[in-house]
Amino acid sequence: MNSILLDTLQGKSTSRPPVWFMRQAGRVLPNYLALKEKHSFWEMMQDKELAAKVTLLPIDDLGVDAAILFSDILVIPYAMGMGLDFTDKGPVFETPIRNMNLPLGKFVQQPEKLEYIYDAIDEIIKTRPADIPLIGFCGAPMTVLTFMIEGLGSKSNFGEAVKFFFKEKAETKKLIEQVTELSIHYALKQIEHGVEVFQLFDTNSGLIPNDLYFELFSESIKKISDAVRATGTPFIFFPKGLGTGISEITYDLCDYLSVDWQTPIEKARKMIDPKVGLQGNLDPRIVFTDKETIKKELNKYLDFGRKNRNWIFNFGHGFLPESPYENAKIIAEWVKKQEWR
Ligand code: CP3
Repeated sequence: MNSILLDTLQGKSTSRPPVWFMRQAGRVLPNYLALKEKHSFWEMMQDKELAAKVTLLPIDDLGVDAAILFSDILVIPYAMGMGLDFTDKGPVFETPIRNMNLPLGKFVQQPEKLEYIYDAIDEIIKTRPADIPLIGFCGAPMTVLTFMIEGLGSKSNFGEAVKFFFKEKAETKKLIEQVTELSIHYALKQIEHGVEVFQLFDTNSGLIPNDLYFELFSESIKKISDAVRATGTPFIFFPKGLGTGISEITYDLCDYLSVDWQTPIEKARKMIDPKVGLQGNLDPRIVFTDKETIKKELNKYLDFGRKNRNWIFNFGHGFLPESPYENAKIIAEWVKKQEWR
């Protein structure tokens, strides 16, 4: 495949950095919002034609160099038998772990509940443009568990989940094993069906001290990474909010590190193993300002991009709901128009 993202990930020389955005499919595009008037999020995920259509929308509507599968990290707890609903206020679990009795019994793994996603991948691969790779993903065990334990969506600060990690280490370790096992199965199936790049989202990794994070979760991240990379698929890791903890991350753990908006990208570059490429890290909230301010922020990346070829342009987290589309659209255009080399 002639893809600027794959070439960059393989260390080949390219004319510019590749660009895609976290949460590029849902949330911003007028074409997505129009579909949402007629279909719920679940419906769009579960109908392979709709899921493929939404996955591919940002290629034309934002001008990005890659598609990311239209799904969610919470399909893993769903396939472990947890009742899940996506409401207007975010995802809600029927019975979160904090309301369950300890010790927990084993969750029954139901990998067949993920089958519809592989049908969607087949459909995407069939209908995508020839130069657009598909990024697969899952949530890292830490982030998935914060949702499973706490039970609420985006408005929560996950206080109960954090307490659980501190207090119930033995239970936490058993849960990590179960989530990791199913996540590896899921990742390998995505790859078997054609995803060319894999990203692990650890959005909540900054909620606990770095020491506890690495003590509890390093092994599970490494297992998922090893399984993905053994297939020859590049592995991008996004530990949001980890702060100086990113200095612990080496090539042994990931091919690329997705840097959040808290850490200046030049500082991140100095802190991390030079073999690890970087992705990021424009603050997605910049799109709520104006085109002049956005361009000023973008210009700050020119020097970095000219000096660092192992870099993928992205946000430091995903698009927020209600991001103005007209401002979102200028970013990929800008990346493509600059003299990078
Ligand atoms: O571009 C894309 O949207 C790609 C697919 C994608 C979704 N979720 C679809 C989605 C991806 C990669 C995710 C990852 C995800 N989901 C994460 C990790 C990355 C991140 O952005 O932090 C997390 C923590 C979740 C859990 C989740 N799902 C939350 C907290 C919410 C509600 C708040 C929100 O972000 O909208 C969701 C719902 C969700 N997942 C939507 C979409 C398109 C919104 C559904 C809608 O349009 O109503």
